[in-house]
Amino acid sequence: MPLPQAQFLDIRTALKQGIRLLREAHVPSDTLAAELLLIHVTRRDRTWLYAHPEELLAPETTELYFSLLRRRSAGEPTQHLTGKQEFWGLEFEVTPDVLIPRPETEHLIEVALDRLAVRELRSGRDPKLTGEGLTLADIGTGSGCIAAALAKELPKAKIYATDISPAALVVAQRNATRLGFTNRISILESNLFSAFSDVGARYIVPVLGNHSSPRHSSPGPLLFDLIISNPPYIGRKETNTLPIEVRNHEPASALYGGEEGYELYSPLILQSPQHLKPGGLLVLELGHNSLSAVRPLLDTSEWAKVHVTNDLAGIPRVLSAERT
Ligand SMILES: C[S@@+](CC[C@H](N)C(=O)[O-])C[C@H]1O[C@@H](n2cnc3c(N)ncnc32)[C@H](O)[C@@H]1O
Repeated sequence: MPLPQAQFLDIRTALKQGIRLLREAHVPSDTLAAELLLIHVTRRDRTWLYAHPEELLAPETTELYFSLLRRRSAGEPTQHLTGKQEFWGLEFEVTPDVLIPRPETEHLIEVALDRLAVRELRSGRDPKLTGEGLTLADIGTGSGCIAAALAKELPKAKIYATDISPAALVVAQRNATRLGFTNRISILESNLFSAFSDVGARYIVPVLGNHSSPRHSSPGPLLFDLIISNPPYIGRKETNTLPIEVRNHEPASALYGGEEGYELYSPLILQSPQHLKPGGLLVLELGHNSLSAVRPLLDTSEWAKVHVTNDLAGIPRVLSAERT
């Protein structure tokens, strides 16, 4: 669609034209995407947009809006154009270096919090958790969304957020800093648990202050109350079935677990017991077809109370278990 002739476009017209342009390009959730881009370029919120339909946009704002609409039509995710995504009521910076946080990953947080609370109840303690005395690990943190959601809910917990991608960790660090969690989230470069096993593990130097260096000072290995992970779980063989937004714009290291997709679960589950306290919890997000390959990995004497939780669409989404 050519740039509109009118130099001064009002909000209502801009929104209508934006939706039409995205619809013609078969962009999913076209109305929402047009709204988000208009909110982004006007630096207003949705309420303001709908309360001021006659307000005129400056020509440079119109130009920016239509250039973003064209990029969205060509497949760039809306979140890469606005630079943000909400997760668990928090706003996260996203870039092409990290997976865009997905709503279904919020089930992981719910299951983790539920199971931690049940553990407290069983021990005769108050199930209202503050996180006091808890040490948690988020393996494959990406934008840091899981670690930050847990930091929000468990204000006294100490959280280690790891990723194999240094570029992702820079984004996670910025999110932790902006959300005010730097003193509770330590960000580490790590291949699964390597940072907790190798003496010479490399730690991310914090951008601001000195809060990100691990604060594990007690003797003996660092053991966790909870290991949580949303590992890459798409199969390389599924690449061609992915939407262009995902296939061409999200990092391969965040998407693909291997040829089949579920390959990373095996080392993750096998290595977890040695990093968990007895009674510690493992909470994993599942890919749409990974349950049958992953569930048997927990059929050993090291694991008990294995649960599968479905998402709202009825798909098995979270696998959780307790270390015996
Ligand atoms: C599916 S993304 C999840 C990102 C984020 N936790 C979320 O839920 O939105 C998987 C993440 O795991 C990281 N990753 C892949 N292989 C890894 C490995 N062997 N060790 C640690 N992290 C890994 C990727 O870089 C990516 O950030």
